[in-house]
Amino acid sequence: MTDQFLLNQVAIITGAARGIGFEIASQLAQAGARVAVLDVHEAEAKTAAQLLCDGGYEAIGLGADVRYKDQVLAAIQVVIDQWKRIDVLINNAGICPVTPFPDISEAEWDLVLGVNLKGAFLCSQAVAPFMRRQQYGRIVNIASSAGQMGGLAVGLHYSSSKAGTLGLTKSLARILAPEIQVNAVAPGTTETSLIENWDQGAVANIIKQIPLKRLGQPSDVAGAVLFMVSPQAAFITGQTLSVNGGLLML
Ligand SMILES: NC(=O)c1ccc[n+]([C@@H]2O[C@H](COP(=O)([O-])OP(=O)(O)OC[C@H]3O[C@@H](n4cnc5c(N)ncnc54)[C@H](O)[C@@H]3O)[C@@H](O)[C@H]2O)c1
Repeated sequence: MTDQFLLNQVAIITGAARGIGFEIASQLAQAGARVAVLDVHEAEAKTAAQLLCDGGYEAIGLGADVRYKDQVLAAIQVVIDQWKRIDVLINNAGICPVTPFPDISEAEWDLVLGVNLKGAFLCSQAVAPFMRRQQYGRIVNIASSAGQMGGLAVGLHYSSSKAGTLGLTKSLARILAPEIQVNAVAPGTTETSLIENWDQGAVANIIKQIPLKRLGQPSDVAGAVLFMVSPQAAFITGQTLSVNGGLLML
């Protein structure tokens, strides 16, 4: 998909300073969108946005921790002040500790659920009124195969948060229809800094189980997101598109 089907649209991508989120921001920008790169690391978000601007795209970098409603609302307001609309929200911000079940503290459970699940809820709640007013909006939640099948190398708080993401996606899809479509993209293990500290033996074991015999790349995930916000996905809502090399076949 190379045409500018997102021309005049505004997209917010959370957790977009690096990794999958940055690749999504790049692909949406290439499709013509003005993109807001939102991240808890404000300086990195601004650097990432500058990279896109240097490439000739329209982008702004915003600092916000998606766990906090006031920070989310403030960031959304900057986007509205600048571009007057919001067409696309990609809930991508996420953290993935690999802490074994007996060692997960209450605070770590709250942190993971806070970023991965509450963050997507808060951002969706914040953009929905603008999308409703425009009679158009697309929300894509980045889930995970860990939420579909149980995690292979990740903490169960992570898997639980991503299973919650799937429930959030379906409920939002019903509540926000027909103006707003809400879908999920569920990546399998993808090569980003999120997995850089994983045990290499565990990663090799995962690759052995993947029919396509490799890890995902951020561009694999971004391509699926691009489809979900394209005109081709006009009759799709409440669905999950798995991008996992065949590890899980539903
Ligand atoms: N990499 C994988 O194997 C994999 C697999 C399945 C799903 N995912 C999901 O894809 C998404 C992106 O992951 P990634 O691999 O690019 O990870 P990453 O660690 O490279 O990037 C995550 C980004 O989210 C930001 N972030 C973290 N906490 C935040 C907060 N509270 N508020 C705002 N931003 C915050 C980080 O600063 C970072 O820029 C996550 O939701 C992750 O769970 C990743």
